[in-house]
Amino acid sequence: MAKLKKFHKLRYVYSDVVSLVNTYCKKGKVLEIGCGTGNNLVFFAENGWDTYGIDINKKAIGYAHKLLKSKNLKAKITIGNVEELPYKNREFDLVLDRACLQHNRINSIKKIIKEVERVLVRGGGIHNCEF
Ligand SMILES: C[S@@+](CC[C@H](N)C(=O)[O-])C[C@H]1O[C@@H](n2cnc3c(N)ncnc32)[C@H](O)[C@@H]1O
Repeated sequence: MAKLKKFHKLRYVYSDVVSLVNTYCKKGKVLEIGCGTGNNLVFFAENGWDTYGIDINKKAIGYAHKLLKSKNLKAKITIGNVEELPYKNREFDLVLDRACLQHNRINSIKKIIKEVERVLVRGGGIHNCEF
């Protein structure tokens, strides 16, 4: 993974995440890989999803906890590399990648995709937006 020194304190969910979820997804259990400062997690938590996030950046996760707390929302956030997801097989209905994969090298991306496939329920979805 390319080393990221800074993080942006993002507060608001990305609009295409809202469109996807509202158009195609039945509420369930969601994991955001590379959840950063938790802006997308807030959206899922406030809409009743069982919400999980994982990111390698401890500072970003610290901010995510503060953001969720300020809104009285809960999400289970783990510090870790998404190449090895610390979750059981077929645990999630939806995995969101909003600009995480793109920060990784091709070999890592292959591992991450395998892991995502492993933790998704059969027929589950991965939403990927890289911009
Ligand atoms: C551009 S930020 C996007 C944050 C959030 N998904 C959003 O939409 O605002 C990318 C995030 O992915 C995380 N990331 C990238 N590669 C990772 C990896 N291999 N394991 C864990 N986190 C990773 C970075 O630490 C960073 O917080």
